[in-house]
Amino acid sequence: MDWGMANRMAQLVQPDGRCLFLPVDHGYFQGPTRKLEEPGKTLEPLMPYTDAIFITRGVLRASVDPGRAKPIILRVSGGTSMVGKDLSNEGITTCMEEAIRLNAAAVGLSLFVGSDYEKESLLNLSRLVDEGTRYGIPVMAVTAVGRELDKREARYLALACRIAAELGASLVKTYWCESGFETVVRGCPVPVVMAGGPQVDTEREVFEFVHDGIQRGAIGVNLGRNIWQNDFPVAMIKAMRAIVHGNASPREAQELFENEKKVAVVRA
Ligand code: 5RP
Repeated sequence: MDWGMANRMAQLVQPDGRCLFLPVDHGYFQGPTRKLEEPGKTLEPLMPYTDAIFITRGVLRASVDPGRAKPIILRVSGGTSMVGKDLSNEGITTCMEEAIRLNAAAVGLSLFVGSDYEKESLLNLSRLVDEGTRYGIPVMAVTAVGRELDKREARYLALACRIAAELGASLVKTYWCESGFETVVRGCPVPVVMAGGPQVDTEREVFEFVHDGIQRGAIGVNLGRNIWQNDFPVAMIKAMRAIVHGNASPREAQELFENEKKVAVVRA
């Protein structure tokens, strides 16, 4: 691996081999997502606890102080919306020159395996890997499921992750699944990070699946809504960090969360 590529990967994956990425890119197809209406305000208290942020160039320029940012994974696919015909019909929205100008540590795009636009999204990945390799910029592939949340099962996820790795992604973001997640990771020769998906009912559920996914081989998370849609997002990200970087158990993470929550209530 060339020095530049290796250096960028080292900005993302920490010396313990783990990573906690905070995605705030949802607006690129969802518009002003709940609790991300003002991304700068959402991000500010969370920034110290994340290893990198996943973000579009528009929100990055408008909402993030360049003097206080963490490494950037630049979202470079898009062109569709929640109200349009097909979320899978994405193109590449941002050129590599722009990624360099923004000092991105990586670029990220969605793959829609099994969709009507499967081929386009896979060729988008291939082209991005070619360009990224030219400039030493890693590509994170996001195995997207669009509205079809039931696709979050091992056979589908393993297929999508393996294809992403075969086409040259340096990192793959996918969903945790209860049954067979270890086969998803084992079949993917590059590091796997887990997304959170829509907010779940209790914090404990998030702690359990993140802990389980790491035990089964994921190197960390790229997890957004279950952090910043929580009423106590700082407590949540601290607890998540304890699991990812501190090997905390779900019970320990819950205790940390409850303590941090008390501190936040007293401060308010
Ligand atoms: C949405 C994304 C997000 O980065 C990804 O879904 C992770 O966020 P969440 O944990 O909220 O699902 O690709 O565009």
